[in-house]
Amino acid sequence: MELGHGSFAVGSRSIPEVAGVVTLLVVLLCSCLTSTEAYDALDPNGNITIKWDVMQWTPDGYVAVVTMFNYQQYRHIQAPGWSLGWKWAKKEVIWSMVGAQATEQGDCSKFKGNIPHCCKRDPTVVDLLPGTPYNMQIANCCKGGVINSWAQDPANHAASFQVSVGMAGTTNKTVRVPRNFTLKAPGPGYTCGIAKIVKSTKFTTQDGRRTTQAMMTWNVTCTYSQPLAQKTPTCCVSLSSFYNDTIVNCPTCTCGCQNNITQPGSCVEADSPYLASAINGPGKATLAPLVQCTSHMCPIRIHWHVKLNYKEYWRVKITITNFNYRMNYTQWNLVAQHPNFDNLTQIFSFNYKSLTPYGGINDTAMLWGVKFYNDLLMQAGPLGNVQSELLLRKDASTFTFEKGWAFPRRVYFNGDNCVMPPPDAYPWLPNASPSLRAPLLLSATLFWAALALLLT
Ligand SMILES: *[C@@H]1O[C@H](CO)[C@@H](O)[C@H](O)[C@H]1NC(C)=O
Ligand SMILES: *[C@@H]1O[C@H](CO)[C@@H](O)[C@H](O)[C@H]1NC(C)=O
Ligand SMILES: *[C@@H]1O[C@H](CO)[C@@H](O)[C@H](O)[C@H]1NC(C)=O
Ligand SMILES: *[C@@H]1O[C@H](CO)[C@@H](O)[C@H](O)[C@H]1NC(C)=O
Ligand SMILES: *[C@@H]1O[C@H](CO)[C@@H](O)[C@H](O)[C@H]1NC(C)=O
Ligand SMILES: *[C@@H]1O[C@H](CO)[C@@H](O)[C@H](O)[C@H]1NC(C)=O
Ligand SMILES: *[C@@H]1O[C@H](CO)[C@@H](O)[C@H](O)[C@H]1NC(C)=O
Ligand SMILES: *[C@@H]1O[C@H](CO)[C@@H](O)[C@H](O)[C@H]1NC(C)=O
Ligand SMILES: *[C@@H]1O[C@H](CO)[C@@H](O)[C@H](O)[C@H]1NC(C)=O
Repeated sequence: MELGHGSFAVGSRSIPEVAGVVTLLVVLLCSCLTSTEAYDALDPNGNITIKWDVMQWTPDGYVAVVTMFNYQQYRHIQAPGWSLGWKWAKKEVIWSMVGAQATEQGDCSKFKGNIPHCCKRDPTVVDLLPGTPYNMQIANCCKGGVINSWAQDPANHAASFQVSVGMAGTTNKTVRVPRNFTLKAPGPGYTCGIAKIVKSTKFTTQDGRRTTQAMMTWNVTCTYSQPLAQKTPTCCVSLSSFYNDTIVNCPTCTCGCQNNITQPGSCVEADSPYLASAINGPGKATLAPLVQCTSHMCPIRIHWHVKLNYKEYWRVKITITNFNYRMNYTQWNLVAQHPNFDNLTQIFSFNYKSLTPYGGINDTAMLWGVKFYNDLLMQAGPLGNVQSELLLRKDASTFTFEKGWAFPRRVYFNGDNCVMPPPDAYPWLPNASPSLRAPLLLSATLFWAALALLLT
């Protein structure tokens, strides 16, 4: 295993010390590995909960309002949006829908007169587009499938539609809950559990003077797992500092390799005369990324520059660059972990929220764009970047420029992990001797070994 690899860097450290670190790590690893595969250390409870409220019985079934709540701090669903599928338990049909539609009607040939909206045993439902006529809308619908994240835009973290179901049970004893829920966003990544009948939702009127309740309610919880969503990373981190001229680029081939022989056209040069035709070429409809040719081939690069050192403060510049010619990132967000974030004093031109995944420790910052100013990260090209500066107050007991301390521990873009350069490549302080670096190398290599294990 890679744990052994970490100990090569140890050099003069004593064996008991190393054993201690390794034991600690093994304990950490075990506690993480026993949890579910979809576990996200920075948002341990993140999930999307789908709630069905049966609002009324009909002669042959029921009318339900289905609401999806995005309880993820920083993972949103952007255009072209969600699609939700399930399998009916009996021979149910959908008579009609408000605020969403089934993508296929299926075979309704046995119906005469009234034709159902959808007769499929496993319907797939998508949101309606903005601008849908009012009589086809309900609250929280019709956003083209976009659901924002809980921390970034709590007012828009839910999506709803109404479904009128026929040939179903008509009492809470005879209704069968649907099975095999699938949530696409729009690609894979989410795994949904089984529907559980829960206490009926209570609704309070606007004046707060009357409460009604659903006839019956069930919940389904879906969780995200990055390895399920994509096989290769989509984002990487590069580093630089005022104290060293070296710019540490993203690791080569992080998100793929340039290969003109086996995969011609896997990327385009920025100055290529064929750029426009490549953007509209094959893959346009599926939104397959078309990236600018770089050594890392990632659609997104985060650059962290340690910019200035003041007596009591230090300053970081963060630049997010989009290398994907086929994607404008709306409502993008960035999550970074650094021990000095508890003393973040000022942040320029981005919104900020502290995330505290472990109770009191706020070493995790969520950053996102200012509305109408830089909340849209444009497609690759001269406008395809956004940037910000952070001012952090030094805490004398922990602050140092040594051992790569000034660089982030983890970075996520839109909820997906960004690959960092190997710790031994970080820019050093001048005169930093290799013996000073050893402890960093040890712990950081172990950290990455652990992360690699968690992500596989
Ligand atoms: C889903 O997230 C909500 C909000 O964080 C939480 O209360 C709930 O327990 C989570 N559900 C599951 C099944 O984890
Ligand atoms: C079904 O309805 C009956 C009364 O009509 C109620 O007592 C029971 O708790 C309900 N069961 C569920 C699962 O909601
Ligand atoms: C559907 O869900 C049932 C349990 O509710 C499970 O046994 C079955 O394997 C699932 N089928 C598919 C195709 O996922
Ligand atoms: C079902 O989901 C709703 C909406 O997230 C939540 O308020 C409710 O507590 C959930 N019920 C259970 C038993 O988890
Ligand atoms: C791929 O081809 C382009 C143009 O044909 C060339 O500029 C580039 O250097 C090639 N890349 C590699 C890795 O061979
Ligand atoms: C991104 O937005 C710009 C301006 O709104 C538009 O011209 C461009 O076509 C968009 N690109 C993509 C890939 O959607
Ligand atoms: C850290 O968290 C505490 C309590 O949650 C909060 O009062 C404080 O403002 C946070 N600090 C920063 C820099 O966000
Ligand atoms: C940094 O933040 C911590 C926790 O919020 C606080 O105890 C400490 O005094 C702060 N240090 C400085 C130099 O502001
Ligand atoms: C800058 O950091 C690199 C490691 O990334 C190191 O090889 C180099 O010696 C450092 N430069 C100076 C002037 O210390």
